[in-house]
Amino acid sequence: IWNGVAGMRNLKAILERDVILPLQEPEIYETYRLSIPNGILLYGPPGCGKTYIARKLAKILDFSFREIKPGDLSSIYVHGTQGLIAKLFNEARDNSPCMLFFDELDAMVPKRSGNSVGHHYASEVNEFLTQLNECSKDGILMVGATNLIERIDPAVLRPGRIDKKFLVTPPDYEARVELLKLYIQDRPQEKIDWHQCALELENYTCAEIEFIVNEAARNALEQERKIINGDILHAAVNNPPAFAENVEQ
Ligand SMILES: Nc1ncnc2c1ncn2[C@@H]1O[C@H](COP(=O)(O)OP(=O)(O)OP(=O)(O)O)[C@@H](O)[C@H]1O
Ligand SMILES: [Mg+2]
Repeated sequence: IWNGVAGMRNLKAILERDVILPLQEPEIYETYRLSIPNGILLYGPPGCGKTYIARKLAKILDFSFREIKPGDLSSIYVHGTQGLIAKLFNEARDNSPCMLFFDELDAMVPKRSGNSVGHHYASEVNEFLTQLNECSKDGILMVGATNLIERIDPAVLRPGRIDKKFLVTPPDYEARVELLKLYIQDRPQEKIDWHQCALELENYTCAEIEFIVNEAARNALEQERKIINGDILHAAVNNPPAFAENVEQ
């Protein structure tokens, strides 16, 4: 079912157990008085697949689907956004089951304390909290994604609003092998040493590995030959991983 999504074994397993299966076999879950999580948050460094897997989940569930970016809710009227949030959830209720995906959630519901956040934001965050409360009972699956979980208002993060939080990290060794195979499978290639390439790409994100394979393919094309190990390793050396540097700081 996760066709095209490499790695993320834990996250996939938990989504299957807690979201996908309960929707396929509701009677069994009702017997145990279990329901789907109220809200799900994916957090972690850029380019590791948060948006990618959220969109894939929407396809698997076959729910109606709305993706909301921070700009979609901004309004020139001070309290306009509050109304937009209510409207959004009302529409989702009317079209349930519905998945609402809030990308870059930190920008939508920032911490309310501190001087940097204007007064009108507080009422928007309040509106969001009210709407989020037990919205799964109305058939709304809320999924959020963020790079900066620490900037999100803590009231949003408590169970009953967001029940499940997953850290999405750069791919491990096995996931890197899967990613390389996924990106290279349809391209002219020759004797790729998956093991060696995956070792070399430690700490790289999915987005970086995708970029590196594209570089390797371009290099091979220019020389009118198939992609080889050397192309991938060469591109990796020229593009060191951004995340590992951040960690060491
Ligand atoms: N598990 C995966 N399998 C295959 N490709 C992936 C996977 N994860 C990410 N990718 C690729 O990497 C790209 C970047 O991933 P994505 O946009 O989901 O990152 P993100 O975690 O949402 O980053 P940001 O925090 O910057 O929004 C995707 O467009 C996709 O092509
Ligand atoms: Mg994203």
